[in-house]
Amino acid sequence: MRASVDSISKLLYITILLLIITISTAVDIINTTQSIKDGDSMASADGSFKMGFFSPGSSKNRYLGIWYNKVSVMTVVWVANRETPLTNSSGVLKITGEGILELLNQNGSIIWSTNSSGSARNPVAQLLDSGNLVVKEDGDDDLENSLWQSFDYPCDTLLPGMKMGRDLITGFDRYLSSWKSPDDPSRGNFTFRNDPSGHPEQILTENSIVRYRSGPWNGLRFSGVPELRPNTLYKFEFVFNDKEIYYRYQLLNNSILSRLVLTENGNLQRFTWTDQTDVWAFYLALFDDYCSRYALCGAYGSCDITSSPVCGCLKGFLPKVPKDWDMVDWSDGCARRTALNCSGDGFQKYSGVKLPDIRKSWLNKNMNLEECKSMCMKNCSCTAYANLDIREGGSGCLLWFSELIDMRQLNENGQDIYIRMAASELDHDVDVRIDSKSNKAKQMRIIVISVVTTGMLLLGLVMVLILWKKKQKKGSKLFNLQKLTIFLSHCYFSTLNCDL
Ligand SMILES: *[C@@H]1O[C@H](CO)[C@@H](O)[C@H](O)[C@H]1NC(C)=O
Ligand SMILES: *[C@@H]1O[C@H](CO)[C@@H](O)[C@H](O)[C@H]1NC(C)=O
Ligand SMILES: *[C@@H]1O[C@H](CO)[C@@H](O)[C@H](O)[C@H]1NC(C)=O
Ligand SMILES: *[C@@H]1O[C@H](CO)[C@@H](O)[C@H](O)[C@H]1NC(C)=O
Ligand SMILES: *[C@@H]1O[C@H](CO)[C@@H](O)[C@H](O)[C@H]1NC(C)=O
Ligand SMILES: *[C@@H]1O[C@H](CO)[C@@H](O)[C@H](O)[C@H]1NC(C)=O
Ligand SMILES: *[C@@H]1O[C@H](CO)[C@@H](O)[C@H](O)[C@H]1NC(C)=O
Ligand SMILES: *[C@@H]1O[C@H](CO)[C@@H](O)[C@H](O)[C@H]1NC(C)=O
Repeated sequence: MRASVDSISKLLYITILLLIITISTAVDIINTTQSIKDGDSMASADGSFKMGFFSPGSSKNRYLGIWYNKVSVMTVVWVANRETPLTNSSGVLKITGEGILELLNQNGSIIWSTNSSGSARNPVAQLLDSGNLVVKEDGDDDLENSLWQSFDYPCDTLLPGMKMGRDLITGFDRYLSSWKSPDDPSRGNFTFRNDPSGHPEQILTENSIVRYRSGPWNGLRFSGVPELRPNTLYKFEFVFNDKEIYYRYQLLNNSILSRLVLTENGNLQRFTWTDQTDVWAFYLALFDDYCSRYALCGAYGSCDITSSPVCGCLKGFLPKVPKDWDMVDWSDGCARRTALNCSGDGFQKYSGVKLPDIRKSWLNKNMNLEECKSMCMKNCSCTAYANLDIREGGSGCLLWFSELIDMRQLNENGQDIYIRMAASELDHDVDVRIDSKSNKAKQMRIIVISVVTTGMLLLGLVMVLILWKKKQKKGSKLFNLQKLTIFLSHCYFSTLNCDL
């Protein structure tokens, strides 16, 4: 009798202990017999990210999402049912025997689910420390073998390790799309993606209209985004081969969090969080200045943020509709001063520029600049050529077959382009800076510097002469060149001892 009471209390004790353990250990994985209800959550193994149900802003709707777990400000990085909100808190997430994630509403209907092709034996869903929700075969930690991952379906946030770009074989596209508003995570007006036609460039669109473009990847950076450069926070890569094309970054120090977000207003911003500050600190905005607006200056126009007005025509081109240019409407762009004559044309080099829109261009990774030039020369509709990659003296070939749109002057952050011009417009010796104003400014600077330097030298000489004269008063009054030379060299070699 006594023994059985003992064993019952022991059993009870063990059950309670087990219960406490299951409650307190963060679950980072569920299998087909488990589910996540509204109110439950799942945390990644190191506690960096959490997944559960939330209501954004002032909304009453419920969404399944992933957010930073160690940050005191609720920051959602991914939403599952962004287009199909739950109206009350009876949502449930399950994983089926086929490895499909299903989100069910109050009456048990599926309101959101994942796509996965293959079949699975023992599928599980796990939230990784990177913030990636992965469906996989239990025990198989190779991401390559995963059945599905949330990193393939970005919302408005690009986290470290996420690929942004395209699988060139299947056509599958991973891109950012803004929320509609802080209260509504459904797709807003803006997207940021690799050029859908497969060029190595990124574009930001508003309701499918291009607003900003990065310029082509030149081996080091995007041609028009000098802000994206090696830094102490993260490293980035751009992969561009036959299989895929994507941009990705990784943090250099994992104790500093950082995310890239496409906001509902179409701003592309990077924020960082350090535990000392307790706020998301603004780090960088891309496409932030006036000149980054797509095609602001029209065809054959170029934007220079240091000029006023910012738009100008390339050398050898004139405003197409001068009246509009006077009214600060540059969209008509510029036209050639001298028409092309196919056989007699040449190429003018322009330095320090953001390369123009490449959507109607042709590229080859293996050609050199000479081959590129002759290829362009042969075809009368080729308007310009440039190196694709600027590393190690340059390689690869980009050819344009259309008007040149969306160029800007970036000076030392820009690169070279060779534009087809009528022979009479060619400028043989000098590389042309697009904006003659900045050239003038440079000349002006040189003149000012020379004048100031000469003036100071003269002043110095006069003072030395005065001092020398004073000294001479004590002795001989005769002008003695030898004495002056000795005096000057004395001054020169002991600058501090020149006062007499
Ligand atoms: C699911 O996980 C629970 C807890 O780890 C375990 O008891 C159960 O056997 C698992 N079910 C399957 C089908 O693997
Ligand atoms: C959700 O709504 C359904 C039907 O409207 C209701 O039966 C259920 O109790 C609600 N659940 C919660 C948690 O409020
Ligand atoms: C689910 O329940 C709501 C009311 O709670 C009802 O309006 C809706 O039609 C139901 N949906 C389905 C698919 O049964
Ligand atoms: C799921 O697959 C279908 C058919 O292949 C496709 O039309 C749909 O867009 C896919 N959905 C997602 C979220 O990938
Ligand atoms: C999105 O575009 C629509 C249609 O042009 C417009 O009515 C709406 O105000 C835009 N929303 C935002 C947040 O810009
Ligand atoms: C990472 O950042 C933390 C916090 O700023 C700092 O204490 C630590 O030394 C850094 N680690 C490295 C390897 O730089
Ligand atoms: C083009 O230029 C060549 C050589 O300068 C000249 O002989 C030819 O007449 C020109 N053709 C046209 C159509 O202007
Ligand atoms: C010149 O290039 C265009 C565009 O690629 C092409 O359609 C045309 O056939 C080419 N012409 C010649 C003569 O190669």
